Amino acid sequence: MKFENALQDYAGKRILVTGGAGCIGSNLVRALVKADAERVTVLDDFSSGPRWNLPNHSQLFIVEGSVLSEETLNKAFSVRPQYVFHLAAHFANQSSVDNPEMDLMVNGLGTLKVLQHSTLADVEKFVFASSGCSVYGNQAPLPLKEDFVSLHLDTPYQIHKLLGELHCNFFSAYYGLPVVIMRYFNVYGPGEVPGKYRNVIPNFIWAALQKQQLPITGTGEETRDFTFVDDIVDATLKAGVIPEALGEAINIASETETKVVDLANMINELTANDNGVKFVGRRKWDKIVRRRASIEKARKILGYDPKTGIKEGLKKTLDWFLQNRDKIEKSARF
Ligand SMILES: NC(=O)c1ccc[n+]([C@@H]2O[C@H](COP(=O)([O-])OP(=O)(O)OC[C@H]3O[C@@H](n4cnc5c(N)ncnc54)[C@H](O)[C@@H]3O)[C@@H](O)[C@H]2O)c1
Repeated sequence: MKFENALQDYAGKRILVTGGAGCIGSNLVRALVKADAERVTVLDDFSSGPRWNLPNHSQLFIVEGSVLSEETLNKAFSVRPQYVFHLAAHFANQSSVDNPEMDLMVNGLGTLKVLQHSTLADVEKFVFASSGCSVYGNQAPLPLKEDFVSLHLDTPYQIHKLLGELHCNFFSAYYGLPVVIMRYFNVYGPGEVPGKYRNVIPNFIWAALQKQQLPITGTGEETRDFTFVDDIVDATLKAGVIPEALGEAINIASETETKVVDLANMINELTANDNGVKFVGRRKWDKIVRRRASIEKARKILGYDPKTGIKEGLKKTLDWFLQNRDKIEKSARF
């Protein structure tokens, strides 16, 4: 019962989604307007999520600007949101290696500022998008469980995601801010435009649609726990309203390992791309050979049960690419 009704709890509520134009954010925003939220405010600077990713809806309001800008934050918080989903981020590993200061600003200071404003606004729940691909480092035993967090991380992005969690915990303990931390794993789905700094799935699909060889950075035997965005959104909505989630950090994953070479072959098959794969150099920071999360905690607290397997998820993602091909081409930054 407590699990089934999660969506209804957002009806009539005022909600702020930072980074709402991104892959996860745009899908979350769609779910929230469908749930009859009174007002969904998106704060986004559109640096990686395009504006066209957002639906036109009378309950949706856009505040364009950065989480680093007091003026933008004042505007977004002026309507006193009851729920804040903080998803805005400088994305992701390679980008943070190339631009570590920007990563610290957006993912460190930006998160601190959103926490400060949320505390002043007395929000009912603050949900933070952390990363299970970040905080466990490269030595943790599989499946990855929430209590193993590493101090030896591989990129500034990973360090700053952990910093965000530490700030969340401080605001919870010191100011009593009601916080939930979501540790997402390898999210994919409609809404993610490919690009130099984007994830493997949109980039493979885009390359396959151009009939190119898919570039594998490593041996291809590496595994990841790819999680479809609808499952991520479902868990995030539940985390916002289920009381037992309060103060917790929770893995959200598919609990399934997929080899990168198998992923590439699936995408080539789906797109009828005969050009196969090519092996390019491993990225120096990318030390994770296998990744699989435990979602025992999410099952227990949230009633989370991932529904979309990799083949179905890839098909839905490809459909989105085909429907939005021109817009994607204009927005992709390689
Ligand atoms: N996609 C994944 O695999 C994954 C995995 C773990 C955690 N996460 C986290 O989940 C969140 C959402 O991820 P996503 O995949 O949707 O990423 P995304 O890049 O698609 O979305 C992030 C959004 O934040 C916006 N943004 C960036 N800098 C900003 C700034 N300074 N001010 C305001 N907005 C800004 C971007 O324009 C974009 O719309 C991020 O915090 C990310 O770190 C994602």
